[in-house]
Amino acid sequence: MSAANPSLSNQREPKVVLGFTNLPDLRTREPLQITRGKGIFVYDDTGKDYIEAVSSFYCTALGFSEEALIEAAVKQMREIPFYVSAMHRVVPAVEALAERLIAMAPIKNAKVAFSATGSEANDALIKFLWFHNNAVGKPRRKKVIARLGSYHGGTIATASLTGWVKYHKGFDLPLPGFLHTAQPDTFNDALPGESEEDYADRLVAELEQLIQANEPETIAAFVAEPVSVAAGLTVPPRTYWPKVAALLGKYEIRLFDDEVVTGFWRTGKLWGAETFGFRPECLTVAKALSSAYQPISATIMSDTFYEGLEKGSDEVGMFGHAGTYHGHPVAAAVALRTLELMEERKIGEHVQAVIPHFHRGLERFANHPLVGDCRMLGLTGAIELVADKKTRRRPEPAGTLATYFADRARENGLFVRPTGDSAVIAPPLIITESEIDELFRRFRVALDETLDWTVRTFPA
Ligand SMILES: Cc1ncc(COP(=O)(O)O)c(C=O)c1O
Repeated sequence: MSAANPSLSNQREPKVVLGFTNLPDLRTREPLQITRGKGIFVYDDTGKDYIEAVSSFYCTALGFSEEALIEAAVKQMREIPFYVSAMHRVVPAVEALAERLIAMAPIKNAKVAFSATGSEANDALIKFLWFHNNAVGKPRRKKVIARLGSYHGGTIATASLTGWVKYHKGFDLPLPGFLHTAQPDTFNDALPGESEEDYADRLVAELEQLIQANEPETIAAFVAEPVSVAAGLTVPPRTYWPKVAALLGKYEIRLFDDEVVTGFWRTGKLWGAETFGFRPECLTVAKALSSAYQPISATIMSDTFYEGLEKGSDEVGMFGHAGTYHGHPVAAAVALRTLELMEERKIGEHVQAVIPHFHRGLERFANHPLVGDCRMLGLTGAIELVADKKTRRRPEPAGTLATYFADRARENGLFVRPTGDSAVIAPPLIITESEIDELFRRFRVALDETLDWTVRTFPA
């Protein structure tokens, strides 16, 4: 913690306010400059390569050098580089993208609202929910339940949905009306001897208690990712989702699905909801939607949900929500091309083909002395680090080992994402088996170096 201490000789003046960074560190340490990318690799300004095993925030599904996406952007820029899709005007690429998403969505006859980021898509969802409920005569139903450990974005509403103190503290968040229930976390939370089924029942009972304690008729929706990577890829028990869906149905609480990370084959199927067998009323997508080559996101809703928006809009004479860059033509063209490429190149089949190799690679770490738990789902994996496998002892503050491991991984040319005491990986979907082998080779070196440090620094 250097803060702004002018007596330090190596002070630098920060230029960019970097998120998820300890800001005083920007005065003493240059941020890493990433200058180019190729396939699953990115390179810094010294030419050092890194496997981007988290697809840079779970984004670059098609890797870092997909020419077809660049061409799609250039083509759209030449046709019409920008025009708002609002005020009864739309650019064809935006309509074509909506049409494609409607055909893919796990919702019949869906409608699509575009925004630029995952946060905005979730924020719009909450805003639309309130608007809908006012329009259909349910003005008291406004509260939203999300889960501890989940991440849903950085706007005021979506940071309120997010279930981490570090995203609330000092920001006066969460806003009133945002409630949080437990995240499934079998490794840390299931009781000794508790079956998977019993654990799911306990989580659902806790959710019901929360509902009952907060005037059930004032609760509008439950928002969750099918599996939360922010929580460390804590895969829910098999019966969790059907039971949660049934409980929400009992109290007429809508089920909203944040597929910002899990959408587009990340979990092995097109949608995370499909992997876990539930049907949301609305869902949000971003990131892999355009392989993140352009900022674009979407809020996809059922037609009955949309009808509420229509009703409310008619009362005012217009729908009072838009964004200059919502459905930006270049972003829409790139997203459309991304979805076409995913189909043309059979990305879903490719993912399914490499998943067993990826899982076998990660499973090899289950016996490592630092690995308390090893979790995987689709092309996503996590290890939870402990200083002692038997006692599950871990140094304070939480995250010490995972942060050190992520630093060692970076030194060894690999980006992993530390979250709590876990480190998550979710490489570009185009990754090959030999690249998976190289990823885990670097992973092992970093983990062994972390073990050496742990044994020296935190002896039993
Ligand atoms: C599940 C989930 N939802 C929403 C978001 C917010 O997306 P964005 O950062 O594009 O605003 C994220 C970002 O990581 C996310 O992981």
